[in-house]
Amino acid sequence: MATRLDGKVVAEAVREGLRGRIQALAARGIVPCLSVTIVGDDPSSHIYVNSKDKAARDLGIEARTFRFPATTTQAELEAHVRALSADPAVHGILVQSPLPKGLDESAVVDAIAPEKDVDGFHPHNVGLLALDRPGHRPCTPWGVIRMLSHYGLETRGRKAVVIGRSDIVGRPMANLLLHKGLQGDATVTVAHSRTPDLPSVVREADIVVAAIGRAEFVKRDWIKPGAVVIDVGINRVEDASTVKGYRVVGDVEASVETVASAMTPVPGGVGPMTIALLLSNTVDAAERLHPVG
Ligand code: GUN
Repeated sequence: MATRLDGKVVAEAVREGLRGRIQALAARGIVPCLSVTIVGDDPSSHIYVNSKDKAARDLGIEARTFRFPATTTQAELEAHVRALSADPAVHGILVQSPLPKGLDESAVVDAIAPEKDVDGFHPHNVGLLALDRPGHRPCTPWGVIRMLSHYGLETRGRKAVVIGRSDIVGRPMANLLLHKGLQGDATVTVAHSRTPDLPSVVREADIVVAAIGRAEFVKRDWIKPGAVVIDVGINRVEDASTVKGYRVVGDVEASVETVASAMTPVPGGVGPMTIALLLSNTVDAAERLHPVG
């Protein structure tokens, strides 16, 4: 049976590490401030944004959440982001993705000051990541690395297969696993919707990161016995037996836990890590924007 990689426990360890740093900033009169912007009325995006806002406040980070209607224009949104970029009281800027149809997400991200880009989505930070130079890292893959490190799981010299090539998870995950270090130095394959015979590609992997966004897509017989399996998926499936009428499942079949050596549960695995690393990136930003001395 796989060791359960508990995102709640590791996220709390991350937050614990931030408390002293937030106090040290407070002693200098600085309150880290995260701005979160959401456009339109996608219900799950609103749930995510509300939990980011609450998690920040709970830790003593100021949260400024801006909710714009779906009718917001490109020019209005870019002007809002530019104002945040110029506001010295704001240290972190996050614009919830996806934006409603018709809005150009890349142009909005380009308007974020790179040092405040706590999502690590700006081309400047993407470049720093690719070069393994210091910069903001995307929160979900950064959380995966932190989780591996917490449990002493090394990827050095091992074969990692990342399923999914999104800008938010798959591509930055592959880059992080290529960096030098115990939770890097992997031989990385990035598989995606055009990869032929995905099951045989996954069967080679010592570490599998599933970030496809399809419920229970990765099957038990794809997993090499003893592999470490990281499930980034958060999918709702109908379930009439529950009060809500649905349940949340990952991208990986739950029965994979009988062959893997370690695995993240869904929910309670990668999900809590994403928010914890967002808070961590915000504290990093506040410290870098207010260097001591
Ligand atoms: N949508 C899904 N995940 C994320 C994330 O990490 N950041 C932002 N801005 N939007 C998202």
